Amino acid sequence: MSRILSAVAWPYANGPRHIGHVAGFGVPSDVFSRYMRMAGHDVLMVSGTDEHGTPILVAADAEGISARELADRNNRLIVEDLVALGLSYDLFTRTTAGNHYRVVQDMFRIVRDNGYMLEQVTRSAISPSTGRTLPDRYIEGECPICHTPGARGDQCDACGNQLDPTDLIDPRSRINGETPEFVESTHYFLDLPALAAALSEWLDDREASGSWRPNVIKFSKNFLQDIRPRAMTRDIDWGIPVPGWEDQPGKRLYVWFDAVIGYLSASIEWARRTGDPEAWRRWWNDPQALSYYFMGKDNIVFHSQIWPAEMLGYNGQGDRGGAHGDLGVLGLPTEVVSSEFLTMEGKKFSSSHGIVIYVRDFLARYQADALRYFICAAGPETSDADFTWAEFVRRTNGELVAGWGNLVNRTASMIAKNFGQIPAPEALEDVDRALLDEIGAGFDTVGGLIRRHRQKAALAEAMRLVAEANKYVADTEPFKLKAPEQRGRLGTVLHTLAQAVADLNLMLSPFLPHAANDVDRVMGGEGAVAPMPRIEEVVELDPQILPDDFAGRAGYPVITGDYTRTPRWRRHEIAVGTPISKPTPVFVKLDESIVDEELARYAQCAPDDVTGA
Ligand code: MF3
Ligand code: ZN
Repeated sequence: MSRILSAVAWPYANGPRHIGHVAGFGVPSDVFSRYMRMAGHDVLMVSGTDEHGTPILVAADAEGISARELADRNNRLIVEDLVALGLSYDLFTRTTAGNHYRVVQDMFRIVRDNGYMLEQVTRSAISPSTGRTLPDRYIEGECPICHTPGARGDQCDACGNQLDPTDLIDPRSRINGETPEFVESTHYFLDLPALAAALSEWLDDREASGSWRPNVIKFSKNFLQDIRPRAMTRDIDWGIPVPGWEDQPGKRLYVWFDAVIGYLSASIEWARRTGDPEAWRRWWNDPQALSYYFMGKDNIVFHSQIWPAEMLGYNGQGDRGGAHGDLGVLGLPTEVVSSEFLTMEGKKFSSSHGIVIYVRDFLARYQADALRYFICAAGPETSDADFTWAEFVRRTNGELVAGWGNLVNRTASMIAKNFGQIPAPEALEDVDRALLDEIGAGFDTVGGLIRRHRQKAALAEAMRLVAEANKYVADTEPFKLKAPEQRGRLGTVLHTLAQAVADLNLMLSPFLPHAANDVDRVMGGEGAVAPMPRIEEVVELDPQILPDDFAGRAGYPVITGDYTRTPRWRRHEIAVGTPISKPTPVFVKLDESIVDEELARYAQCAPDDVTGA
């Protein structure tokens, strides 16, 4: 048994999330966490909405509401969407929780006390027409490193390097095209060079583990080449106040000294809410504990460099030494599990161009597990992937409905019609034993692949076994075993099939948790194979620490759940005599016409915003 932290990227609360977002971080982390729990591990899965930073401010400005109002609204929408997808967070909270402010500020103080925060004067961008600070990501220009045009002031998407707006060649405001003015301002910089040796040692060790995706480790090591201090404060009035600079409300902590700390603060909040406030330490202070970070590739540097560097600075493990604070020695990531990008109908997702399908709209029309299936079977696991409606219909109808759904349906129908309950088997024949042995071995193969983050291969293997079971039906022809003297054999075949369905259902449950419960009910069970998350309205734990923006906020919705009753990852013998009645299909077959219907929706969308999310 291991302790496993599933650290899932925090979705921005600047708008509702689209399927590209949940394909990158949401579904893969849930498949992994569900499997790990079934394999007997002690999993803590945490995340929340990322609510600070300029994208929120810009979106709020565009609507004429406050940043807090916008964040509150989107936090709730995102919570509802992620629950509807069945993502089994132990705690999904938010970066505007008081507990988070407290943990972030504690970390900042210790990192600074340990000598890893340098005060430096920098030049920050101002819009000449409005006099307001121009956030980094709203400045664009030519990348000074790879010379791609249209690089943002915080990062170049083409080469992945982090940038400062002053680095850009020919900088322009993305809001109105004007050339920004740069003024002097003092900021705290994380002294990454003083942490580089420790970072490099950790990355070498991670590389030697051989478990990281090759791209991710290569990318991460590359970032060490050009390492320099990074500003951890910003000229902005929305964010976590900088300890010691409370008299300068126009300066706040940078989101990357904020959101990434959420993995830790959410673990602490979870522990406080369960009534065992120190419980989080089992995942953070124990060197044996394992931690897996799930995100899209644009986040790699923040998880393989900035976040580990923040922890090393806190732990006092860089060149300047130092001593950790009350949070103890924090464990660095075991693995950064990054996915690639999902496109839609061959194009980059873009809410401003209407090339987008929000999770909510998707789930209003289609089953959550149909989306989960598509993402797991055809998502951007190790290379970019494309979502098309035609492929969605093909996979849903051809694989889910005609493969797995059909196997469940015919098994339950034949049992209902002939016995009304799971029949007792007679002596198994070779063909029966062969099927059960092959499926039984699937627990090891499928489980091993999920553990190594090869979910596509894992799902393909489980679906291959589904096809084997369907082939078994064709080979044994139970529908022809009608004579009274064949009744014993019919019972054996249907018993074998019922066992196969039960096994396959468990194996598929990390991918298809809603369907797993439905299938379980069809097969006479209680429908509790895959525990589901729920929304809980909680009270704010640290109201006194929050700035005035939050006056009057008493609480907020979180995602949580009790996942302790998850079944173990192995064969569970089915019970002879379990009543089974005529089933209703678990998966909905899609009409081909939805492809044109869905494509027509984009045509109607007009460009409307500059958030670019
Ligand atoms: N909000 C960021 C994004 O969507 C991800 C933040 S991950 C975190 O790209 F760990 F920093 F929160
Ligand atoms: Zn570049």
